[in-house]
Amino acid sequence: MKRISLLLIGVLHVLTLNRVAAQQISIVPAPALVTYNKGQYVLPKVITIQVNNLSDSVRNVANQLGEKLKRSTGRSYVVKSTMAYQPGSIRLLINKAPTATLGTEGYHLSVTSNGVTITSNKSAGLFYGFQTLMQLFPKEIESTTAKANVTWKVPAASITDYPRFKWRGMMFDVARHFFTKQQVKQFIDNMVKYKFNVLHLHLTDDQGWRLQIKSLPKLTEVGAWRAERTGRWGEFSKPTPDEPKTYGGFYTQDDMREIIKYAADRYVNILPEIDIPGHSLAAVASYPELTCTPGTYQVNAGERFMIWKGGTFYGLLDNTICPANENVYPFFDKVFTEVAALFPFPYIHVGGDECYKGFWEKSDACKQLMQRENLKNTDELQSYFIKRIEKIVSAKGKKVMGWDEILQGGLAPGAAVMSWRGMQGGVEAAKMNHEVVMTPNTFAYLDLYQGDPMAEPPTYSMVRLRKAYEFDPLPAGVDPRFILGGQCNLWSERLSTMRHAEYMLWPRAFAISESVWSLPAKKNWNNFVTRIEQQFERLDAAETKYSLSMYDPSFTVSKDTSNNIKISLSTEVSGLDIFYSFDETNPDRFYPKYQLPLTVPKDAANLKVITYRNNKPIGKLINMPIAELRKRAGIAEVKPTPTL
Ligand code: ACM
Repeated sequence: MKRISLLLIGVLHVLTLNRVAAQQISIVPAPALVTYNKGQYVLPKVITIQVNNLSDSVRNVANQLGEKLKRSTGRSYVVKSTMAYQPGSIRLLINKAPTATLGTEGYHLSVTSNGVTITSNKSAGLFYGFQTLMQLFPKEIESTTAKANVTWKVPAASITDYPRFKWRGMMFDVARHFFTKQQVKQFIDNMVKYKFNVLHLHLTDDQGWRLQIKSLPKLTEVGAWRAERTGRWGEFSKPTPDEPKTYGGFYTQDDMREIIKYAADRYVNILPEIDIPGHSLAAVASYPELTCTPGTYQVNAGERFMIWKGGTFYGLLDNTICPANENVYPFFDKVFTEVAALFPFPYIHVGGDECYKGFWEKSDACKQLMQRENLKNTDELQSYFIKRIEKIVSAKGKKVMGWDEILQGGLAPGAAVMSWRGMQGGVEAAKMNHEVVMTPNTFAYLDLYQGDPMAEPPTYSMVRLRKAYEFDPLPAGVDPRFILGGQCNLWSERLSTMRHAEYMLWPRAFAISESVWSLPAKKNWNNFVTRIEQQFERLDAAETKYSLSMYDPSFTVSKDTSNNIKISLSTEVSGLDIFYSFDETNPDRFYPKYQLPLTVPKDAANLKVITYRNNKPIGKLINMPIAELRKRAGIAEVKPTPTL
């Protein structure tokens, strides 16, 4: 009996320890190998950061670590290069003999009651070890002001970690809505916490040209500004010609140099995108002679100018660069000369997506060019254009990257492909030995709905958190040497503030970070949910916005032969209870709990739902009109015949 009790106590002890460990393990993205040990490190009153290498890059990491600790703890720090071991110090050590597993970005982090040691082959690894260390500190470490009454302790642990992919990207569309230099820096601050290392800036589009090109000043004098509109994107009124163009902005080359340096200090490369030949209305408004249809153009202010139907689109006006105009090539030579000189990253993104070619089809110059060059269709004409642009860009020592439409009509030699219309374009390009970044809209478009459209700001299509978590940039059967990595994209048509950008990014960008950094064997949905709930507290401490839509249910509808609908509700997060009403009152946990698909009571107009966890409300109260569900089930409402 005694032996059994002792055994039980032992088991309970292990269970308790495991529970503590489970609470501690909240690192995102999940590291390759983590062991938690007994004990903890407590941050001393004066923080000593010891380095074994005085290179600028190591000193830079040490200073950033010191500044971050100073800001939230209010404690001072010193950086020392003495190697005499000082108890309680945080040591940043570059391996004298590099270890193969850690590569250029991996690190080993050891926390004991005596101190913290991060070792790596390169300073990038020290930087990522520092980011992981921050996630082990209490959440207040993310505060931007000094917090009193916090015990700054870290659980003892041993972590070995390295990335799965070298390209861990985030795209930020600063063209549709302009975001300031300061906001771009804020974006970088957030992405590096989760070990992203490429910031793709979508710098030009129909709604704005955001980069100063000194030899072509009208690109920003005209192209960076549009009429101001607020409300529902795509439904805005067309600006009158004399309406003041007051909304917008651009980065001077000095601004951009500052952003590039800020990013580089945080191990982020900036990929610039100049999106041509489509998506070019801002450039066309600045220099109308660039189109096949010169005239007067205005930068788009969010009014409709393309009709989308059945997966294809029709342009109401010409927002394209004319491939048959010889002057466009020296024009873009000027653009890319300045872009190549400004950005140190080896790749320049030239767009190539969603080009409406109807105006080319009607253009005599295009027809003649197609005949002369033996081009069978306008896809081949775009391919001709991109190939010439590729020559211009590669002459400046840079590699061209483009959206997967650049495959149509023939891929330019050496061009890297960013696969967005699913993964297929990327697979095709990799099979032709071209480099690929996977950024499929089915998993990695973070401007899309993350919860039911009834309860979210308007956008289109859906990528729920769980779907984003399923993203794997490396499809079966593809040579991994050609898959540089993956990326999530934040388009900004419907995104005009930093708060809303954050709402769309988090938590789905956590999911993408884990898809591009962590080993597939380390991914586990339920465990991920537990870990991101702890990250939410860190985002709260940092005053960063995020979405709680993962707690809201999905509605699935079916109909029977008499057009009665059945409503199924489900949640992507497990362990939630859904309560509902049909009687127009707001449900709580004393209302019926959802168990089986629901039939609609006669004459009910709305289904209201809310989720709970452990008897506490956790999701939003959603009011779903029955008419909307009937529409989703494909039931056309019959209007009652008016009686005379
Ligand atoms: C894209 O989403 N048009 C690349």
